[in-house]
Amino acid sequence: MSSLCCPRCGSPWPQPLIRCPYCGVRFPLRFGCPDLRPKLRLTPATWTNFLLPVAWGYPLWRTRALSLLSGRPFPVEEELALLKKALRPGPGEYLDLGTSAGLYGAALLKAGAERVYGLDFSPAMLLKARRAAPGLVPVLAEASQLPFRSGSLEGVAVGGSWNEFTSPERVAAEIRRVLAPGGRIFFMWTLPSGSQWQKWLERLGLRYPRLEEMEALFAGFELRLWREGSVGFVMGTKLKICDT
Ligand SMILES: C[S@@+](CC[C@H](N)C(=O)[O-])C[C@H]1O[C@@H](n2cnc3c(N)ncnc32)[C@H](O)[C@@H]1O
Repeated sequence: MSSLCCPRCGSPWPQPLIRCPYCGVRFPLRFGCPDLRPKLRLTPATWTNFLLPVAWGYPLWRTRALSLLSGRPFPVEEELALLKKALRPGPGEYLDLGTSAGLYGAALLKAGAERVYGLDFSPAMLLKARRAAPGLVPVLAEASQLPFRSGSLEGVAVGGSWNEFTSPERVAAEIRRVLAPGGRIFFMWTLPSGSQWQKWLERLGLRYPRLEEMEALFAGFELRLWREGSVGFVMGTKLKICDT
């Protein structure tokens, strides 16, 4: 059975229906995806993700991002090797949360993941992801209300999107909920640098969590956290004794 469920009542979701057969709620189709998003709280920074030119131009920035932020040559291949080491893609279902152009999702599929969901709240980004990563299952939803059954996913990857989440505690609680016991996480995000540039972006809605904040959000997981310049990384496993 697929991990997808109705975001309102939590019942299994037999795609491609746009009406939950259990609670009867209807979800409109947008670009071929059922729109499972709750009412969105957009910031000036996250709003830009809804523009087609931003979605189409995003990969240009993405391939250079870690070299610029870490202060050393940091090729995408090295980042994707960390992702694969952390999530160990194989049988079962995985989530690329805030997928944008599907970079992590495509890498997980290529490395042998049975099924990968690419979730984003921007239809423009999902259009781009569908082109760039065929095979990725696009999910138009919001990170703090994940449309997946509890304990159904083997791994969750978040590449850079953590800086944009407006309710990080709720997103962390949702990731804990949807991961199976023994499920794995891999996150990459930008750390606080104290720069004027970051202060300005914070006013537009971006957040720069410290390593300690991420550690606290995933207390109870077996975690490895580290930094490379202004880039933070977390690899972790949801221990079998962890609550959801
Ligand atoms: C910095 S980009 C991440 C790129 C991608 N993960 C990668 O590694 O290339 C952030 C993405 O997260 C999405 N996003 C931001 N906040 C979100 C939320 N609350 N729910 C779902 N998607 C969100 C944005 O639309 C955008 O596509």
